[in-house]
Amino acid sequence: MTADDIVVVGAVNVDMVVTAPQLPGPGETVVGPGMRRHGGGKGANAAVAAARSGGTVHYVGAVGDDDLGATALRELEADGVGTDDVAVVAQEATGVALIVVDEAGENQIAVGAGANGRLGADVVEAALRRRLPTAGCVLVSTEVPGAAVAAAVRAATAAGVRCVLNPAPVIPVVVELLDLGPVLTPNTGELFALAAAAGSGPPPSRASPSCKEILTCAQALVGRTRAPVLVTLGGDGVLVVDSDGTSRHVAPLWVEVRDTTGAGDTFNGVLARELAAGRRLDEAARVATVAAGLSVTAVGARNGMPTATELAAAAAGA
Ligand code: RIB
Repeated sequence: MTADDIVVVGAVNVDMVVTAPQLPGPGETVVGPGMRRHGGGKGANAAVAAARSGGTVHYVGAVGDDDLGATALRELEADGVGTDDVAVVAQEATGVALIVVDEAGENQIAVGAGANGRLGADVVEAALRRRLPTAGCVLVSTEVPGAAVAAAVRAATAAGVRCVLNPAPVIPVVVELLDLGPVLTPNTGELFALAAAAGSGPPPSRASPSCKEILTCAQALVGRTRAPVLVTLGGDGVLVVDSDGTSRHVAPLWVEVRDTTGAGDTFNGVLARELAAGRRLDEAARVATVAAGLSVTAVGARNGMPTATELAAAAAGA
């Protein structure tokens, strides 16, 4: 029996997306042509990315006992994601994200957590007891309660299964988990927020930190976790700092950007899939970066996520 399944712990949302000429400022109203509903949530999005790229995926999360929850589960199952470990929370609403996307594909997101906020550590522990024997990687993101995040990282570590922790957003429990040595995948803002919270690095000198500042900060975190840190740099690709502190830049895929929503989730899902399949870190990061590049070519977090065939073709040419 090969242990290459991927277990994903994190949030599932229904995304209500409006495309508009620009993002609204405080107190401002912007008007777009209409609202589109898409599947969302960082955990569920990453689960879909991992499944589309060929992985056997078990998603652990929570939905409400409402129509949106039933739809969210149907969509995951249609993408081949296992939903047997999802809790259906009585008298709770499924998570919803209100998203505005501008003409450059940049977004603004507000999330109503709903049932995601009720995901219990007991649900996570029970799911991981079932799934860890066949798991090659556990991917955890932090739009769910800290106790659920901690339960996932602790169980994976205790079982010796590689754990990827996407600190999006940076919540206090992430700092407590650093010593367990999860692979971290922050974006630049999360990197500095995490380093500040962990007391392991100076803040950047300006709003847009230099490459050197990003590298120094990531290496400081590696010094604490003794595990790789992969910093997603948006349109600038990914910085990979390995557990020995050596670094490498992965160039982005050049594409026409329609919507950046879910690019980080795609990166994380495909990274987890590649690591579970036994790929080396730098190769896994390269393939995941290609997948993230493809994901931004369509509106909606999941619409641009590649299938295994599409990803293999794009990765071969990248
Ligand atoms: O990372 C993108 C996701 O963040 C969206 O799908 C939205 O649901 C929020 O969770």
